[in-house]
Parts: sequence; C-alpha cells; structure tokens
Amino acid sequence: MASETQHVHGLGEAYKRKEDARFIRGQGNYVDDVQLPGMLYGDIVRSPYAHALIKHIDISAALAVPGVLAVITGKDLDAAGLAWMPTLSADTEAVLALDRVHYQMQEVAFVVATSRYAAADGVEAVDVEYEPLPVLVDAKKARNPDAPLLRPDKKDRQPTNHIYHWETGDRAATDTAFAEAEANGIVVRQDMYVPRIHPAPIETCGCVADYKAATGKLTVWMTSQAPHAHRTLFAIVAGLPEHRIRIISPDIGGGFGNKVPIYPGYVCAVVASLKTGRPVKWIEDRTENLSSTGFGRDYHIHAEIASDKDGNVQALRVNTLADHGAFDAAAQPTKFPAGLFHICTGSYDFKHAFVEVDAVHTNKAPGGIAYRCSFRVTEASYLIERAMDTLAHELGKDPAQLRLQNFIQPQAFPYRSALDWTYDSGNYEAALKLAMKNVDYEELRREQAEKRARGELMGIGISSFTEIVGAGPGKHFDIAGIQMFDSCEVRVHPTGKVLARIGVQTQGQGHETTFAQIIAAELGMSPDDVDVEHGDTDTAPYGLGTYASRSTPVSGAASALAARKVRDKAKKIASYLLEVGEEDLEWEPGRFYVRGAPDKGKTIQELAFAAYTNCPPYLEPGLEAVNYYDPPNLTYPFGSYICIVDIDRGTGQVHIRRFMAVDDCGTIINPMVVEGQIHGGLTQGLAPAMYEELAYDADGNILSGNFQDYLIPTSMETPRWETDRTVTPSPHHPIGAKGVGESPTVGAPQAIVNAVVDALAHVGVRHIDIPLSPWKVWQVLKEKGLATD
Ligand code: CDP
Repeated sequence: MASETQHVHGLGEAYKRKEDARFIRGQGNYVDDVQLPGMLYGDIVRSPYAHALIKHIDISAALAVPGVLAVITGKDLDAAGLAWMPTLSADTEAVLALDRVHYQMQEVAFVVATSRYAAADGVEAVDVEYEPLPVLVDAKKARNPDAPLLRPDKKDRQPTNHIYHWETGDRAATDTAFAEAEANGIVVRQDMYVPRIHPAPIETCGCVADYKAATGKLTVWMTSQAPHAHRTLFAIVAGLPEHRIRIISPDIGGGFGNKVPIYPGYVCAVVASLKTGRPVKWIEDRTENLSSTGFGRDYHIHAEIASDKDGNVQALRVNTLADHGAFDAAAQPTKFPAGLFHICTGSYDFKHAFVEVDAVHTNKAPGGIAYRCSFRVTEASYLIERAMDTLAHELGKDPAQLRLQNFIQPQAFPYRSALDWTYDSGNYEAALKLAMKNVDYEELRREQAEKRARGELMGIGISSFTEIVGAGPGKHFDIAGIQMFDSCEVRVHPTGKVLARIGVQTQGQGHETTFAQIIAAELGMSPDDVDVEHGDTDTAPYGLGTYASRSTPVSGAASALAARKVRDKAKKIASYLLEVGEEDLEWEPGRFYVRGAPDKGKTIQELAFAAYTNCPPYLEPGLEAVNYYDPPNLTYPFGSYICIVDIDRGTGQVHIRRFMAVDDCGTIINPMVVEGQIHGGLTQGLAPAMYEELAYDADGNILSGNFQDYLIPTSMETPRWETDRTVTPSPHHPIGAKGVGESPTVGAPQAIVNAVVDALAHVGVRHIDIPLSPWKVWQVLKEKGLATD
C-alpha cells in the first residue's frame, strides 16, 4: 500500500526550482531553442502514487492562476477519442490517466499557460483526489493469485498481469542434450538480473506543436529518433492528413532508444495546439525523463549450459521473466516481442537451444526500449558471456581457452545458429587472440596467481560477444506494421555539389560526416562537396529512423546504392558526350574515360553540369536518385573485450586497471567516428555494470529519479579505454560495413562482471548481480571471509 511518507521527486515544485533543477541536472534541449510568436507552454500533473484510483480532479484553482489558459484531463481526451494511444508493442497506453494511475509520475493532466512559470503554478494548483491501491513492484510476484490486477482496462484478455509467453528453439532436442549432459557431462545453471536502467540522454524529451488552422498544417519540432514513423502514427491515431503533418527532429542531444516511443507529452502538446490554435511547447525535466519515459532491460534471466566433460558446449536453455511495467510499450519489431534476445547463443557453436520469455505488468513506467542495443541483445550477450564463465570456472578451465574451443569457426560462415539466425561473417578467434596479445594474457594470469598467493584479489574478465544489427529485412521486421527499410536521396547540383537526404536520424553519431564519405567515395569526389540532411519529414525520404545501430547497415547501404544510381546515369551522359558506347567506358574515382584513351574523359562535375545543360535527348535532365534499401539480412558485428580489475578487500571497491576492446564492424567508414562510438559505448557499458539502476521501493516510489541517486559515470569514473580492431566485411552490405554504435555497450558489462567474479572464483563465487557497488562486493567478501578492516 502506498504510505503517507512516500517521497515524490520533482512534484509540486514551483517552476523556479524546476529551472534550477534543469540547470543542475544538465538539461538543455535543441527543441527548447525553438521560439515561435504566441507560443504557449505545457506542463504535466503527475501521479504521486504508483497505483491508485482517481476519485476526482478539480481544475478550478489552476484555471484561476494568472496565465493558465487550459487544463486538459483524461476525460477531455476521452471525449475526443484520444484517451488511449497504441504502443509500439500493440498495447494501449493512457495518454492522461482516466480513472486509475498505474505508476508513479504517470501523466494525469496537462496545463497550458502563457509562460513556463504559470504552467508550473497551474500544475501545483490542480487538485487530484486519489484512492491508493495495493502496489506490485516485484515482477516475480506478478502472477501470484493474490497479486493486484493492474490492467482491468484490458477487457479482451484474461484478468491477469501476464502479457505474453514467447518461445523459440527446439525444446525436445535441447532437453535431450541436457539429459545427456546430466548423465555424462556437466550442466551449469545461473540466475542473473539485468536491472532496469535508463538511456538518460543529455537532453530530455520535448516538442513544440504548431497547428495552423489557416493551412490545416501541423508542424511538430520533436525529439524523435524516427520522425517519419512518428508522422504516420500521428496521422493514424489523431486522424490528421499525413501530408499536412511535418515532423522536424533537429539535433536531439542523444537518444539511445529513449526517443523512439511516442510519449503522452507529445500528444498533449499537439492536442493543446489544436485546441488553442497556438504553438505549444512541452519540455520534460530530468526527473520526468528518468521516471516516466522508456526504460531499458529489467530482465530476470535463468540460463543453463549443457556441455561435455571437456567443455565442448552442446545446448543452451534460457528462461526469462521480463518486467514491462504498467503498459507494454517496448519498442520492438512486431514479430519479436522479446526483441532479438535469441541471439543469446552468441559466438559459440551450440547444437541445440531453447529460449522462453514471459512478460508481466508491474506498477512501474512502461518501456523496454532498445537502449543502445538492437532489441534485447545486451541482455542476450550478458547471459551467454556470464554463463560461459560459470562453465569455465566449474570445469576449472581458463575462460579464454573455453571460448577458443567453442567459437564458430571462420569457415562456417554464413552460419545458421540453433535459434535460426544466419550470421553473415565473423572471425571470433582472431579478435580474442588479438585482445589477449595486446594485454599479454599469459603474463596477467601469472600475475594473478602470484597475487592470489599473497591474498590480493585480481580478476581478468573476457567478453567475446556477437551482435546483430541493421533491421530489416522488411519481411521479418516491422515497427507498427511499417517495414524496416531505409533510404537516401542524392541530388547532384549542376556545379557538382551534392545534397543528400537520409531516412535515418542522427543523434550525434556523425552521419553528416560518414554518409558524406560513403557518397563521395562512390562518386569519386571530396566529402566536403556533399552535405547530408536528415530529420525533416517534409524533405527527407521515408525511413524508419535511427536506433539499434541500423543506420549504417540500412541507410548507409541506401546511400551507396543511390550514389551508384547517380553514377550509372552519369555514365550514360558520358557515353553521349564522348560518343562511345557505355561498354567502352572505364571508371576511375571521379571520372569516366574511354577505354584505351585515358585522356579522353569527363569528370563527375562535368557530367553533372551536362545533366542540366547538355543532357542527351533520350534522357530526363537532372542528376539525382533515391534508394529505398531493404537489407537481405542483418549484419553481425562482434568483438572481444578483456577487463582487468583489482578489488579492495577493505572497501569492496572495484578498480578497473585496464580494459582492452577489440571490435570488428566490417569495413570501417571513418576510424575516428568509430573510435568515438566505441569510447562512448564502453562508458555506457561500464554504467550498468558498476553504477546505474532504476530502483523502486515496495510502494512503487522511484528511488533514482535524479542524477544524484541515478549514478551515471562521469570522466572521473571512466577508465582509460584501449581499443584495437579486426576487419571482417559483411558479404551482403554494398560496402561491407556493419553497425558499431551499440557493440561496446552490449559487450562491456559482462567483461567487467566476469573480471570481478574471476577475482573471486577460487573461493566459489560464480555470480554477483549488477551494478557492482562496493557495498554489494564487500558483502560477498565478508561472506567468503575475504573482507579486511
Ligand atoms: O545507427 P547508428 O548511427 O546509431 O549506429 P551505426 O550505424 O553503428 O553508426 C554509428 C556511426 O559510426 C555512424 O556515423 C557510422 O557511419 C559510423 N560507422 C563507421 O564509420 N563504420 C562502420 N563500419 C560502422 C559505423
């Protein structure tokens, strides 16, 4: 039951305090920079309770606040048929709560005022009468007969908190392999929790909605990782004509999956603009962002490996409980309710595997988004890399040796996994051996043995992960029904300068640089002559947006192919101008010339000029092309990370002494951009391993709703990352590139945990749940008699 003493962060504060908080917590927002004449400001009344009935809402005092123009409640939205919106997982989510709140900080009413200050005062003045209900926080209790029922609005299904059961693989063959291993080999089992965390982008979510009655056009500046998909959803849900909706997503200050879903604040701002006929801005503060927008992870995993006595793995069995919070708003491709979690056989040649996932509701914020990861790949990679270490320690084998022994071999690609993925290319042994060489692995093991003899705790952790990025193909992958292709439009101006527009949405990954490089390389010109635009649905070609490292594998491929279409047309023009057949033309970067007469040629700039001034009569003038690319397969980047830690026996503090990251993302477009992606991603892998967790108390109060309680690592906590690479191109991508942005976030956590467990393996420690706080580690040290004063 919610108690009187519950504390609610960020509620009931006057705007001045909010303003201070915005500053202190580092919030800023490019969308916030949008200033329009007559603009109004929206602010949200949020529930202090995690589970309660709404008995009454009194808005009269709020409407009396000077500057407050309107207060929108769930009932108002209901009258307009907008009380519920579809989630990306086909659930329905309350835009503003109607008669019940399902989690703390849920949206209850939207106040519209002439200033932020007035809006915040209006929020304080809205009087909501709640009747608290029993709260469900523990996902493991969600299916108990006495658990409170959280979604009575779901009249179309059994009255239960269970959302779905999903399974894949061959259960019978896997069970048989386990029975065999129980009899003649070894079975290891490991429970692990991958806690709820938050993407916490530098800038929070927000929008400015501007409906002009005179033109019937709605323009929304919005922190969106998928502007086109959002435009379509606005059109479908609000019944607005899609060609009169324009979504502009400027530099959005990071996304990491947080800006894929549509949030109630966006919808309310649009409704408020339609209602008032004026632009309405809504920008959330940090506490609102952490407490109410899409979280990542929250998977309770039980993993088992069946192996023979020599450590040759045979089968993998995984059972998982997924906590989706109050609404199932996971941003997953429709056919994959647990995302791509079944990539969990990882880099190893398992003969059999079976995976099942059950998802439940709890009184927590909705989500389950792909936080810098391709739909649950982090959870998958974590479980297999942890379980492999458990197996190594049980067998008394070196974890590196166990991996080398079980890797999928380079000649086995394309490799069909036991869970039906076709890996495009890989060379796992090369990556691990390079990482081992770079850290002098053998010497480290000798040092560890010496230290152990002296009573010092040193650990070496390995993670040899395989990723899966670049969704489509469209026939298997869709978001809300829209197939996951992507696009690029290349326009060559008469003087040979290029404007490219892409369907994906950059959030700091440097697409303006790397996509210009792709196009420039195809056309043989300088990247300086190519400008890349994105994020405006009125100009960019349709695309599904940027998340899950899909930009380079999909839109990057479209960019290369659009440029090739341009080059093909340029060739026809060259053939006309040089009076030879196309078959007699050769290409060298930037120029077609006549075979056997290299002096007789035309540069791409000359051909561009001719396209507008002297075009062959049988061709359309102009030089531009668009490509919509539906990939034939995903790409499978991989890497091997080695982490070396020392543990302080007095405090439980884990010191990361070295971290070596060898990554392979196929053909590299821009080494510096890739290096930057890896550095940032590693820090976002360090974060859940050591610091971050969105925690709740038993009443559903969020305990980490600000950056004092939710610990994101700063440069002070971040170790010096050492990086290296191998290059194994993707055979199906036009330039052989795979994604890279999420690899380090996926690969890093388990390297750190494996190192800590490795330091303690000799006293029987097999697992410690993340985040590895000093307190948690110290308790293990104490239990094992290793803690010192
Ligand atoms: O989808 P998202 O942009 O987040 O991830 P990505 O496709 O992994 O790319 C991140 C950045 O690294 C982009 O600027 C890519 O073009 C660049 N990249 C690269 O230079 N070479 C690769 N093989 C992969 C990515």
